[in-house]
Amino acid sequence: MRLRVNGTEHEVDVEDDMPLLWVLRDELGITGPKYGCGIAQCGACTVHVDGVAVRSCQLAAADVDGEVTTIEGLGTPQALHAVQAAWVDHQVAQCGYCQSGQIMQAASLLDLNPEPTDEQIDAAMSGNLCRCGTYPRIRAAIKTAAVKLQGV
Ligand code: FES
Ligand code: FES
Repeated sequence: MRLRVNGTEHEVDVEDDMPLLWVLRDELGITGPKYGCGIAQCGACTVHVDGVAVRSCQLAAADVDGEVTTIEGLGTPQALHAVQAAWVDHQVAQCGYCQSGQIMQAASLLDLNPEPTDEQIDAAMSGNLCRCGTYPRIRAAIKTAAVKLQGV
């Protein structure tokens, strides 16, 4: 099958039911998306398909209909996405394991809702678990990113 990931076209020879997460990590060597639970309950594997956050552990690669973006393709070291820059500003990460998923979920949220309320942030991020408890910094960073994205 063919998959477009972070702007590059890939041809992969995998079973149709192989989850996208496995294709990204094991076939393409794109290891930003993490394996946490494997059952769409933690958000560590979150990537975008056409800008919308999806759980790549539960999405068969054959069912992907659109361009996949992972944390590696969200920004560049020279030009971080506003969400990534806000994460740095707020020093959000602790162990870091959940954070690529958190950032991808947050970027998708701000794309759909540029001015989320606290309640909307909590609702949108509720499926992304952080065993280190970085939730207050995540919320603060999303607010910083929202302001930056609006050019305020
Ligand atoms: S690994 Fe996909 S949601 Fe937990
Ligand atoms: S930073 Fe450790 S799990 Fe979230």
